[in-house]
Amino acid sequence: MNVYDSSRMTDVLAPLGYEPVDSPRGADMVILNTCHIREKASEKVFSELGRLRAFKQEREAEGGDMVLAVAGCVAQAEGEEILRRAPQVDLVFGPQTYHRLPEMVARALRSADGGGQLDIDFPVESKFDHLPEEMAAPGAAAFLSVQEGCDKFCSFCVVPYTRGAEFSRPVASVLAEARRLVEAGVQEITLLGQNVNAYHGEAETGGTPGGTWGLGRLLRALAEIEGITRLRYTTSHPRDMDDDLIAAHAEEPKLMPYLHLPVQSGSDRILAAMNRQHTADDYLRIVERLRRALPDIALSSDFIVGFPGESDADFAETLRLVTEVGYAQAYSFKYSPRPGTPAAVADEQLPEAVKAERLAGLQQLLGAQAAAFNQACVGRTLPVLLERAGRKPGQLVGRSPYMQSVHVPVPEGTQQRLIGSLFDVAIEAAYDHSLGGRLLVDDAPQHSTRARISA
Ligand code: 5AD
Ligand code: SF4
Repeated sequence: MNVYDSSRMTDVLAPLGYEPVDSPRGADMVILNTCHIREKASEKVFSELGRLRAFKQEREAEGGDMVLAVAGCVAQAEGEEILRRAPQVDLVFGPQTYHRLPEMVARALRSADGGGQLDIDFPVESKFDHLPEEMAAPGAAAFLSVQEGCDKFCSFCVVPYTRGAEFSRPVASVLAEARRLVEAGVQEITLLGQNVNAYHGEAETGGTPGGTWGLGRLLRALAEIEGITRLRYTTSHPRDMDDDLIAAHAEEPKLMPYLHLPVQSGSDRILAAMNRQHTADDYLRIVERLRRALPDIALSSDFIVGFPGESDADFAETLRLVTEVGYAQAYSFKYSPRPGTPAAVADEQLPEAVKAERLAGLQQLLGAQAAAFNQACVGRTLPVLLERAGRKPGQLVGRSPYMQSVHVPVPEGTQQRLIGSLFDVAIEAAYDHSLGGRLLVDDAPQHSTRARISA
């Protein structure tokens, strides 16, 4: 979501004459868009601000100026502290107010005293009603934010405090942005939300209220837009995986056979302490329903190890759940106490060494599952949307339906022409985090759907 927000900040600033550059050296403005989800991410902000101060001083020594801004969830949660500890910062604003950037920038440029401004409101107006329609060229695959914030209050998580209450963008606004993306050449759209499957956007039909739509209905409407060939959504909560959404996976070939569905832990005791509002068995039943709807769906998850009070037996339950589900991919983290969350003040915080050991054990299992999943793709033909140049010359990188990066060699001089197209690729090699393959055709883009995936 920060990637999406950053690109929209660029769009807000474009009419003022700002455009993205590759380096902070010599820039008129630097915006540090920050994440507060774990301590490690948020610690980086202050060290990064030190580094940016040097660029700002360099610019001032040359007689120029640099507006230095901190955006995102660290700004939201620790805005005042940032201004106190880092006087070089001119602007601090949260994730819900960046549509006001033009006013903030104008004030920053006018104020000679250099006092920093803070805008961490949760405004009544939605930023989505104030963001410009014009967007920078997004490439073949793009994000589209449809839902923000969260009312679930998992006991470890800062999101309900930093991103605010759950909010769904109205259907018309989502469809209009999707159409603009398609006009700009996008084929694959990933719908974003902290709780994206809790989406319940207001719909209108012919100007009259049409109730609210869930995510399944929204995905089906998006699938009708010509030019969209692939749809994804992230991140989901197990409790919001409703029948209609599961049915959409079975019925809608544009919806990719891959789902990120975080479970966090396999222990019912820990799930309850985390306030996840479901059991391990509830989760396994959802996985069963998904697989019944779409047998080849690939699953991914997030895990937290070393949550306060987690015993060896609780951790063993997590390993058991992982073994039972079989993930294509996953993210796992050591529990990180976050200020203001209930779990941070819970008794029985675990020693770092225990967290590290459990993380290593879990990652070994998840790594082996991912490697096996990738290996099982060797010999198959998968449709790949080529998105960008690879690291090696003559190589392009795209995504398989299952979100794997796929590297393919392409003939000299064809790179630019081939980027942005879907091709069938014969998968020939599997690595830890990606696949290698060969284009089955070297021209004529395929309009591929899941039906084309051959075993
Ligand atoms: N400590 C560790 N991991 C966390 N996550 C969220 N909060 C914390 C925390 N306090 C992880 C969860 C979530 C992902 C986005 O980040 O696994 O799904
Ligand atoms: Fe955080 Fe997700 Fe729980 Fe909401 S549902 S509190 S975003 S982990």
